[in-house]
Amino acid sequence: MCGIVGYMGRHQALPILIDGLKRLEYRGYDSAGIAIVDDGRIILEKTEGKISELEAHLAGMKCPGVAGIAHTRWATHGEPNKKNAHPHIDCTGTLAVAHNGIIENYQILKKRLQDKGHRFITDTDTEVIAHLVEDHYTGALEDAVRKAAKQLEGTYGIVVLSTKEPDKIVGVRNGSPLVVGVADDEYFLASDVSAILKHTRQVIYLDDREMAIIEPTGFKTMTIDAIAVDKAIHEVDWDLDMIEKGGFPHFMLKEIFEQPETIRNAMRGRLVHATGEAKLGGLQEVLPTLREFNRLVLLGCGTSWHAALIGEYIIEEYARVPVEVEYASEFRYRNPIIDRGTVTVAISQSGETIDTLEAMREAKRKGSRTLGVCNVVGSTIARESGDGVYIHAGPEIGVASTKAFTSQITVLSLFALLLGRMRGMSASQGQEIIQALQEIPGQVQRILDKNDQIYEIAQAYCHHSNFLYLGRGSNFPVALEGALKLKEISYVHAEGYPAAEMKHGPIALIDENMPVVVICPKDAAYKKILGNIAEVKARKGRLIVIANEDDTDASDAADHVIKIPKTLDMLYPVLAVVPLQLLAYHIAVLRGCNVDQPRNLAKSVTVE
Ligand code: F6R
Repeated sequence: MCGIVGYMGRHQALPILIDGLKRLEYRGYDSAGIAIVDDGRIILEKTEGKISELEAHLAGMKCPGVAGIAHTRWATHGEPNKKNAHPHIDCTGTLAVAHNGIIENYQILKKRLQDKGHRFITDTDTEVIAHLVEDHYTGALEDAVRKAAKQLEGTYGIVVLSTKEPDKIVGVRNGSPLVVGVADDEYFLASDVSAILKHTRQVIYLDDREMAIIEPTGFKTMTIDAIAVDKAIHEVDWDLDMIEKGGFPHFMLKEIFEQPETIRNAMRGRLVHATGEAKLGGLQEVLPTLREFNRLVLLGCGTSWHAALIGEYIIEEYARVPVEVEYASEFRYRNPIIDRGTVTVAISQSGETIDTLEAMREAKRKGSRTLGVCNVVGSTIARESGDGVYIHAGPEIGVASTKAFTSQITVLSLFALLLGRMRGMSASQGQEIIQALQEIPGQVQRILDKNDQIYEIAQAYCHHSNFLYLGRGSNFPVALEGALKLKEISYVHAEGYPAAEMKHGPIALIDENMPVVVICPKDAAYKKILGNIAEVKARKGRLIVIANEDDTDASDAADHVIKIPKTLDMLYPVLAVVPLQLLAYHIAVLRGCNVDQPRNLAKSVTVE
């Protein structure tokens, strides 16, 4: 996620801003920039890549200004390059804006502003904010920002400065964090306290639709309706390391707990309840092809391949299109049958996995239209696929993929909905799916609230050296993913199987030392999986069951039950995987493993 730092005080702003940006580096970013008011003009400098590059670029530059804003960008709209890096300026170059979040109605606003003569130079959603504030400016920056904020839909943490009022920085938030730092005759605005902790531990947390105006002599807080609000000043007592991880001991746990928000982000602005449809901007150009194609090939590796397997169930069920899923590494080295009626979707969090990239290139060479489902904006797969959908999960730093997986499934569900509504799904079924999707973030939160219970189960089983994971239907790939999570971070042997396959071999492994994790919500396969549970129990296997809140049959047979809410059959994977992520995490920590950087693994596999 992007990072913001703003400074107004007695000291030179530049070194303070650069230091603040460096402290936000852990969040992940692709470009950075600063805007400082100096001698009646804005000094605006940006670079692609690391902050060290921005620093090198600024080396030797004289910039005594004491008011400035800075930003690390994680691209969501427009490629990660110098042009799209923040801050962004208005037509006059007298006003600069840095923004975290996504402005959903930026296209409408941009069109309106262009019609009024505003000139846009970037591909970002953020640039509309600069022009909107310019448009509303009549002498008081806070009024202009306030009026602009009221027109914005989506999420934002925004900081704005202007040469017309050089002693003022205005910040406003809605859904994206912004804090005010208070020190002696100097004030800060930041998306994250870690950026300013070196200078002050006194902070004010802005709430949604609140603004702060910082000046050399003090600060004011108000709502975007111009009602003054008295905010309490808090003393931060965390250390830097804790803050970077949001108070969590590891990035992996932080990312698991971010899922209600990241799943919401994957759906944000993409569901049309009135017509029961999904609106995916990145597929607009390819809609005519999607009306006609007759076969879908989904490619990925590791966790992304598991998401593809789940996508196969969801798309075939909802859109009635034949889907094939392949390991990208296998696909690229055989001679796959691809014709012009085939659409190939490359699924990759990083967008850089070499096998997925090469497999996608192979499909393209054979005449397939290719689409990308990626997290990293502007990554190679995202660019070369031509069209596609971003999952908007924010940077995933833990090597084991968690939040990207649930966002991939969410986006594949939206894709299934889009295709389904083109091919015979009724509006009411579309609306039912939308309704269920909208409940998912809250339901994931309810599962996360069971973290303590899952920790206790992990304590009971952390010394075991083999695990079996079973699921049926769309929960079979969840079993694979649960086993992968456990083995990659705890180095414990684990296997995932379709539950019915157990009796064709793995059943030989089951005895009183074998924990068996069974995913058995009340879906179409429920009755069948009860039979598999009985088979495990008869051989004294230790049963850990993921079941619905109102379940009794599976729960009665189990040694441990983790309850999950009810949803549509096809959407259970998003819920069912969450306890498995937590179980793997706790077992790994209890075994003393480095969960964020497991041995032998890399976050992005760019070699064969
Ligand atoms: C497992 C994991 C890997 C990745 C795989 C593909 O937790 O993270 O299995 O899923 O290396 O990576 P992407 O999605 O970046 O192509």
